[in-house]
This record gives sequence, C-alpha cells and structure tokens, in this order.
Amino acid sequence: MNSEEASKPVRIGLLGRGTVGAAFADLLAERAGAVEAATGRRPEVSGVLTRSEGEFAAILENSEVVVELMGGTDPAREHVLAALRAGRPVVTANKQLLAQHGDELFAAAREAGVQLRFEAAVAAVIPIVRTIQESFGVTEIAKVFGIVNGTTNFILSEMAATGAGYEQTLARAQQLGYAEADPTEDVNGADAAAKMAILARLAFHSPVTLSEVSCQGIEEIQPDDLAYAKELGLSLKLLGAAERRDGGISVRVFPCFLYAGHPLAPIEGPFNAVMVEAPAITEVTMSGPGAGGLQTASAVLGDVVSILAGEAPVHETRVELPIVSDVTSSFYLHLEVADRPGVLAQIATVLGDHEISVKSVVQRGSGEEARLVMVVHECLESRFAAAVEAIGKLGDVRSAPRFIHVIEEEF
Ligand SMILES: NC(=O)c1ccc[n+]([C@@H]2O[C@H](COP(=O)([O-])OP(=O)(O)OC[C@H]3O[C@@H](n4cnc5c(N)ncnc54)[C@H](OP(=O)(O)O)[C@@H]3O)[C@@H](O)[C@H]2O)c1
Repeated sequence: MNSEEASKPVRIGLLGRGTVGAAFADLLAERAGAVEAATGRRPEVSGVLTRSEGEFAAILENSEVVVELMGGTDPAREHVLAALRAGRPVVTANKQLLAQHGDELFAAAREAGVQLRFEAAVAAVIPIVRTIQESFGVTEIAKVFGIVNGTTNFILSEMAATGAGYEQTLARAQQLGYAEADPTEDVNGADAAAKMAILARLAFHSPVTLSEVSCQGIEEIQPDDLAYAKELGLSLKLLGAAERRDGGISVRVFPCFLYAGHPLAPIEGPFNAVMVEAPAITEVTMSGPGAGGLQTASAVLGDVVSILAGEAPVHETRVELPIVSDVTSSFYLHLEVADRPGVLAQIATVLGDHEISVKSVVQRGSGEEARLVMVVHECLESRFAAAVEAIGKLGDVRSAPRFIHVIEEEF
C-alpha cells in the first residue's frame, strides 16, 4: 500500500442490505475508527446493491473489497465470481453459495490471488472457520461436529421443556423470530447440511459439496420420544458431523440423542456450538449465537479487517477422500408392542441375531399395548436398519418402529 492509498478510505461494495447487510453497514460506520487503528485504513461503504438500488458493474468498479450479503445462489454466484476475477477480495455469509459452488469460487480466488472469506457462513459469530483454517490449519482433524442450526435447537429444546408437539413449537419459534416464515431449509436439515459441507471441506482439505452430505431433519420427532429419552438421561439435538471413517469421510446431519456428560448436551435454545477433535488438540468446543443481524455482521467485519490487515488463509483441496455412507452409531429405538409375556424376548432375539446389544430399556404398559423404548450399543447403521425391518415384521409389534441416533460417548 503506498502512502496516497493509505490516506484514502478503503471502499467497500455492499451486495445486499437486508438483516445482515444493514447491520453490517451500521457496524462498519460505528467501528470505522477501530478498523483504521487496526489496519491503517478507514473503511466506507462505496455502493449498495439491492433489488431496487444500485448497479453491480458500477459498484464493482468503485470498490476495493466486495461484501456479499444477498443470499441465494443466483445472482450471488455471478457477482462473487466477477468480483474475484476482477481482483477484489470478497467476504460472504452465504452458506448455500459456498456449499454448492465452493470449487469454482475457491479456484477463482486462487487464480486471481485474492482472498475469499466466509466466517459468517457457518455458525455466524462463532469463529470456527478461522479456527479450522488458521489455528488448526496443519492439524490432522479427526472430527468436526456440532449444533449448527439455531432454529432447530430452539424447537427441540422447547419440545423437551414443554412437552408440546413439533407443529405447535414451530409456530412459537416463528412468533419469537427464531424461525422464518418459510422454515423448510432449517427444519429439514438443508441449512445445517450446507454448513457441514463447508466445514468438511476445510477440515479435511477435500472438495465436499452439499449433494454429498446425507441429511435428516426434525419434522418427524414426536414429543413422547423426548419424554422417554429424558428418563434415559438423554437430550435431543440436530447434529452435523463430519469425520474420518474407514479411509474416507462421512458428512451427515441427523437428530441425535446425547447423554448429559456430552459437551453439546447443555446447548439450549437458538445457540450453536461446534466441536473439533484431533489427537493433537484432544477436543475443543466453541458456542455462541449462530444467527442474528448484528452477530453475523460482526463476523463479516472481522473478515474485512483480516483482508485489510493482509492475512491470507490458504484455500486448498489436497485430497479427494471417498464418502463413506455406512457408519457405526448407537440408537434409540421406540416400539409399540402387544402387552404380552415374551415380546421383549422376541425383540432381544432379533437384535441378538444381528449382533446388536442393548444398553438400556424402559417399558410402559398401557392396556393392551406397551411401549418399549431402548438404547442399543454402537453398531453398523446397515445392520441396525436390517434388525429394525425384521422387528417391524413381528406380529406383536403394532406400529412402525421409530429410531433416532445416539452418541454414547461421554467426556
Ligand atoms: N440473518 C441471519 O441471521 C444470517 C446468519 C448467518 C448468515 N446469514 C446469511 O447472510 C446472507 C444475508 O441474509 P439476510 O438475512 O440479511 O437476508 P435478507 O434480509 O433477505 O437480505 C437480502 C438482501 O439482499 C438483497 N437481494 C436479494 N436478492 C437480490 C437480487 N437478486 N438483486 C439485488 N439484491 C438482492 C435484498 O434486496 P431487497 O432489500 O431489495 O429485498 C436484501 O437487501 C444470506 O446468505 C444468509 O444465509 C444470515
């Protein structure tokens, strides 16, 4: 930077001024002095693009850094690519864009020799991207997992606390502003899956895309599953997990019960939390707000400061690791059965035939029928699925078995 450049404000082109974009513009104005003290240059917004304001080509021309806070993939993809190719560093909070078009965007950034930063795209203000890329940049990470969607964590926490059903709790989350008018991407796991694709790419240096993340949401969760689980000392979370397994990697989003000693078990309400595990670091957990205009804007501003300070993380994909789909897990199994002697023995036999052992059981009679709820020890998912299919065919089993993953590990 020459002295003439240093005396001028750094021009930020802002694409999108909604919840995050407006908060970012305010925060940038408020913290401009601090940014100048840290980087030597005072930032200012030089142009804004919304549906009704601004023209992209002019904004690009008149900016040194582009901040994309529009959301969606079209036209965000075109604009971010154009900015990178024009030599502008880009900051984005757009998880879908990175999860679906990461290869193309990182390649464009590398070719142009400019930074593409995206801390706010995963768990908003929790500095997990920076931590994985920079602090653990050369660490052999074994596993990244966590609660990366605040809407579903709020819904599951409320269902467990109040005993209310899914639909009623979703409506309450919408009233309180924790769920959007269209909550589909949150509750079906797609939002968490996009974040896990990004974290897997960073942690394993492998080009993981959204379509490779297996994903299950929370729409089917029943209040009685949460009530029984409480008796077994379990709490339910929608978890994202990216881990090394059998020479490849497994990247998944699924509802999962945790025992009380697990570091993610106490994370309640709209908070997020992410854990990183590696032999060299043991285990690190970070938690905080995973959304919110100001909180997300704060992460975006942190990225802008890093760019102005000239810190450059390396975006590299070094290996293409195969995706492993059949992994081991422990499970919660909920069965409605005839209340007759010998039923539990029949079920235990089927589980035994599939080499699955039972950790704990709760049984409740209700007239002619009984509920049988159990946790089974870790086994291959395919083996568990075969056992569940066989149990579902037993004459004394009255409805389709329900099951949910469990993490047995305690810390
Ligand atoms: N909200 C959060 O808490 C949060 C948390 C983490 C990450 N993020 C991410 O941050 C990004 C922005 O989210 P947000 O909640 O701020 O969204 P938002 O409130 O819907 O704002 C989007 C902004 O982008 C503009 N825009 C959208 N499509 C456009 C188009 N085709 N052409 C021109 N302008 C367009 C909108 O213009 P108009 O004003 O004219 O409609 C609006 O100003 C998303 O990628 C989101 O996933 C958000």
